[in-house]
Amino acid sequence: MADARVNALMEKIVSLCKRRGFIYQSSEIYGGIGGFWDYGPLGAELKRNVKDLWWRTLVHEREDVAGLEATIIMAPQIWKASGHVDTFSDPMVDCKTCQGRFRADQLDDIPCPQRPSKMVSQCEGEKTEARPFNLMFETNVGPLKDAASVAYLRPETAQAIFVQFKNVLETSRQRVPFGIAQIGKAFRNEVTPRNFTFRSREFEQMELEFFIRPDEVIEAICGRVATVAEGSWQGEPQPDWGWEVWHKYWVEQRLRFYESIGLPRATLKEYWQAPEELAHYARATVDILFTFPFSKRDARGELIGEELEGIAARSDFDLSQHQRFSGKAMTVFDEELKAAWAKLEPGRQTELARRYAEARQQYLTRMAATPEEAEQAAAQARADAEALAKGSYVPHVIEPSAGVDRLILALITHAYAEDEAPDDKGKLEKRVVMRFHPRIAPVKVAVFPLLKNRPELVAKAREVRDLLRPLMTVFYDDAGAIGRRYRRQDEAGTPFGITIDFDTLGEKGPELKDTVTLRDRDSMKQERIPIHELPARLLSQVR
Ligand code: GAP
Repeated sequence: MADARVNALMEKIVSLCKRRGFIYQSSEIYGGIGGFWDYGPLGAELKRNVKDLWWRTLVHEREDVAGLEATIIMAPQIWKASGHVDTFSDPMVDCKTCQGRFRADQLDDIPCPQRPSKMVSQCEGEKTEARPFNLMFETNVGPLKDAASVAYLRPETAQAIFVQFKNVLETSRQRVPFGIAQIGKAFRNEVTPRNFTFRSREFEQMELEFFIRPDEVIEAICGRVATVAEGSWQGEPQPDWGWEVWHKYWVEQRLRFYESIGLPRATLKEYWQAPEELAHYARATVDILFTFPFSKRDARGELIGEELEGIAARSDFDLSQHQRFSGKAMTVFDEELKAAWAKLEPGRQTELARRYAEARQQYLTRMAATPEEAEQAAAQARADAEALAKGSYVPHVIEPSAGVDRLILALITHAYAEDEAPDDKGKLEKRVVMRFHPRIAPVKVAVFPLLKNRPELVAKAREVRDLLRPLMTVFYDDAGAIGRRYRRQDEAGTPFGITIDFDTLGEKGPELKDTVTLRDRDSMKQERIPIHELPARLLSQVR
């Protein structure tokens, strides 16, 4: 029963997305292509607004983050260094009966292509053993299609940030701690794309790599490392923050961002990965979860959310990998560390150097394949500790990594509502309304002349449209009864509607001349307001 309701709701949402021009199936006239989606006029605006706000919040409103826009195809060695060539795979099984290929961990959730009323796991078809399937899309660069020309469409935007780390550091005049932000396409050949846009093969990510000093450096400079329990992560960044406080700080910042675009905290959950779930290089990872209509329940009947964003403390793994594979130093020189180190007592120096060397050796040994490499790793770790004493180290990183399309889907499902509104004769009728936060709404305001066959009304309405157009997205609509026009904008999620009527022309008295009705989408309340007050009034809500 619950499933049928959920499916019905998702069907309504998917159908509204197509009908109103939020999201279409890619290549629809050719029958579509699995896992690819296009954004229509309203969807494109919505997506742009979300990306712009992310960029504004992180890059423009902060001093310590710089932007980057890198290519989608990069040197293939990058994906060897990052581990994607060897390990970026999902377990896949084949069904010998229906010839389908499925993700082994989703057999309970995917309908059988031959008997859609049953899940793949419930069908008799003989299945192969699970085997890894690499998710990267391969291509060839240049006119020759051979092993040497193989390249990949990036499966994440993050790696470009690591490989351009030194360039950005030098050209932006930033110093650690600082971050590099990037928004862009990522591609994953998902075995079973599903749940509308939730798991797609082409999607966009908004990723921040925030580089920080290793804890030993903080200790050397500040004498201590602040703890999460002290609570400073809720305020402005402080010099004594180590990775744990920075990580908690970024989780909080990201939750605040979601709140600012209309996903209240109550709709989000923080899932702190257990130690055994963490990637080997990660010290902590928090997933920010949102409950979609298709989210499942756990054994206790509680809804399990789906990941919108992961925030990982990734140690110095990524930069160290690129340092090893490219042979180029990814270290920074930290004047403050050098000066502080010189003033430390020898016992303290030894202690910090020992801890730092241990951490480096752990990483380097894990990457060593032979006994000789293990020996080299030990020597390299000692050398790294000596470099630390001179002020040089590989920065650690905190990575908040969000998916744009998943967020758009969360915003759409959260905004979708049904209630009742009076039609033109005052009779209540069902209304579908997208309650987007005004900051992300695709169209901010609709302008309606009451009647389209009255040139004075039309001229005034166009004047209002032209007044607002340089400031925000405006939709001008003069077709049909006013109630119908409101309804269309409710479905588009337009937060404000302005009607130009005979009062605006001053026909009922000079005191109402050049005033309009301003309608609020959610409360449907209308108020009269002078035209000259509109820009300030609306801007205060849509920015
Ligand atoms: N650099 C880290 C990274 O890429 P991830 O958890 O694999 O981490 C980050 O991806 C985010 O990208 C996810 O939280 C999700 O929002 C989005 N994402 C990942 N795979 C996706 C897919 N197939 N379709 C849509 N969004 C996806």
